[in-house]
Amino acid sequence: MAEYDYDVLVIGAGPGGYVAAIRAAQLGLKTACVESRETLGGTCLNVGCIPSKAMLHASEFFDAAANGTMAKMGIKVTAELDLDTMHGQRRDAVKQLTGGIEYLFKKNKVEWLKGRASFTGKDSVEVAGKTVRAKNIVIATGSSVTPLPGVTVDQKVVVDSTGALELAKVPQHLVVIGGGVIGLELGSVWRRLGAKVTVVEYLDQILPGFDGDVRKEAQKIFKKQGMEFKLSTKVTGVTVAGDSATLTLEPAAGGAGETIEADAVLLAIGRKPNTDGLNLEAAGLSVNARGQVDIDHDFATSVPGIWAIGDVAPGLMLAHKAEDEGIAVAENIAGLTGIVNHDVIPSVVYTMPEFAGVGLTEEAAKAKGEVKVGKFPMMANSRAKTNHEPDGFVKIIADAKTDRVVGVWAIASVAGTMIAQAAQAMEFGATSEDIAYTCHAHPTHSEALKEAAMAVTGKPIHI
Ligand code: FAD
Ligand code: NAI
Repeated sequence: MAEYDYDVLVIGAGPGGYVAAIRAAQLGLKTACVESRETLGGTCLNVGCIPSKAMLHASEFFDAAANGTMAKMGIKVTAELDLDTMHGQRRDAVKQLTGGIEYLFKKNKVEWLKGRASFTGKDSVEVAGKTVRAKNIVIATGSSVTPLPGVTVDQKVVVDSTGALELAKVPQHLVVIGGGVIGLELGSVWRRLGAKVTVVEYLDQILPGFDGDVRKEAQKIFKKQGMEFKLSTKVTGVTVAGDSATLTLEPAAGGAGETIEADAVLLAIGRKPNTDGLNLEAAGLSVNARGQVDIDHDFATSVPGIWAIGDVAPGLMLAHKAEDEGIAVAENIAGLTGIVNHDVIPSVVYTMPEFAGVGLTEEAAKAKGEVKVGKFPMMANSRAKTNHEPDGFVKIIADAKTDRVVGVWAIASVAGTMIAQAAQAMEFGATSEDIAYTCHAHPTHSEALKEAAMAVTGKPIHI
C-alpha cells in the first residue's frame, strides 16, 4: 500500500490553488485539490476579478450611451437599463470560466475533493469525514472580507463585494467604506448605472500602494465623474432601519462626528487571509501578526512538505501573483526551480480610465536613491485624443545612474494592457533608453510609454 494518497494535495481552488494543482499534475505528480465551494476558481472567478469585470464592462457601455460619449461620436441612442440581463451575462461569464477549470482538472487528472480541509497532522488533512495523506500540502486558501466593528454585513442594505456585485436595483445613494480597489471599481459600476456614490476613506488619499501622482490624479478623475469623497474620515457605525442605513462618521484624527443616510453601504476596507478552521496547529504551523502563513523564497513554510501561496501568504493580494506562485510552488515541489519576482507584479484598477503600475512608486524609489522621472500626458497621445480619452499620463521612474527602469505608472483607457509591456521590460532589466528606442506601432496608446521613456532624458517629441 502506498504510504501517501497523493504526491501533492492543494487546499483551495482559487487562481493560486487550481494553477498549482494543474502544474503539479502536468509534472507527473499525483495531485488532488480540496475546494469547499460549489464551483472551482476561488474568489477570483466566483465573486472577484471575473464578475466585477463583467459588471464594469457592461456598465461602461451603459455609461457611454447615457452620458453622451456615444452621441459625441455620432451614435444616437437612448440608454435603458435592463439590470437582470446585465446580471445574467455576469453569471454566464462566471459559469463558463468556473466550468472551464473543472474541465482542465479532468483533462490534467487533478482530483477535486469536495469539502473543507482541516489539518490532522504534518502530512494529513480531513476532508468530508475522510483522512487524506499527501507528501506535499499546498495551502492556497485565499482571503475574505475584513470586518469593521459596528458594521454588520447583511448582504441587503449593508453589503460586501459579493453583495455589491448582485444588487437587485440601482441604489439612490451608495456609501462605500474604503477608497481602495474594490470601493473604486464597484463604486464606479453603480455610479455609472445611476447611483449617487460617496466614498468614505480613512486616509487623506485614495488608492493606497499606488504612486502619489496617480493617487492625486485618480481622485480628480473620479470626482469629475461624479463620485464624492470624504477623506481622513472613519465610519464608527452603521444602523439599518428597513431599507435604509444611517452611517456615523468621525474625522480620522478625532473630533465632532456627523451622520449620513444611504440605501446601500459597501464595506471594502481590505481582505484578510483565510486560516479559520484549517487547524494549522495540528501541522505545527501558526500565523504571523497579519494572519498570514509565513513562507521562504521557495514558498515553503517552516514545516517540511507544507507550502503556502496566494492571498493566504505575504505579498500583494492579486490573482496573477497567486497564479505565478502556483506554477512556481509546483515546480519547486517537483525538484525544479520555481521563481516569482515579487518586485515586478503589476497592479491594475479596471475603471475608465484604468490605473496601473508596476515596480516602485516615485516616493519609494526616491527613498532608495537618486532617480530620473519621465512623464507623458495621454492628452498628447494621438490615439487617446482621437478616442476622446484625454485623461491620464504615463510615468517612468529610472535609476539616475544606470537608467534602469524601476517603476512605471499609467492612467489610460488601456493602462492594464500597457503595463504588461512595462513589466516585461523591467524583467529584462531594460533602461528607459531601451524603451525609447523600441519601435511602437502608431497610433497606439502604448506610444505614450515610449514618449515617457524619451521624457526621462528630457526629449519627448509630442510635448
Ligand atoms: P482565492 O481565490 O480566495 O481561493 C481560495 C479558495 O480556497 C476559495 O475558493 C475557498 O473557498 C477555498 N478554501 C478556503 N479554505 C478552505 C478549506 N479549508 N478547505 C477547502 N477549501 C478552502 N485580483 C486581480 O488580480 N485582478 C482583479 O481584477 C481582481 N478583482 C477582484 C475583485 C473583487 C471583488 C475581489 C474580492 C477580489 C479581486 N481580486 C482581483 C483579488 C483576487 O480575487 C485574489 O487575489 C485571488 O483570488 C487570490 O487567489 P487565491 O488562490 O490565493 O485565493
Ligand atoms: P484595499 O486595501 O485596496 O483598500 C481598502 C481601503 O480602505 C484603504 O484605502 C484603507 O485606507 C481604507 N480603510 C481601512 N479601514 C477603513 C475604515 N475604517 N474606514 C474607512 N476606510 C478604511 O482593499 P479593498 O478595496 O477591500 O480590496 C481588497 C484587495 O482585493 C485589494 O487590496 C486587492 O489586492 C484585491 N482587489 C484587486 C482588484 C484588482 O486587481 N483590480 C480589484 C478588487 C480587489
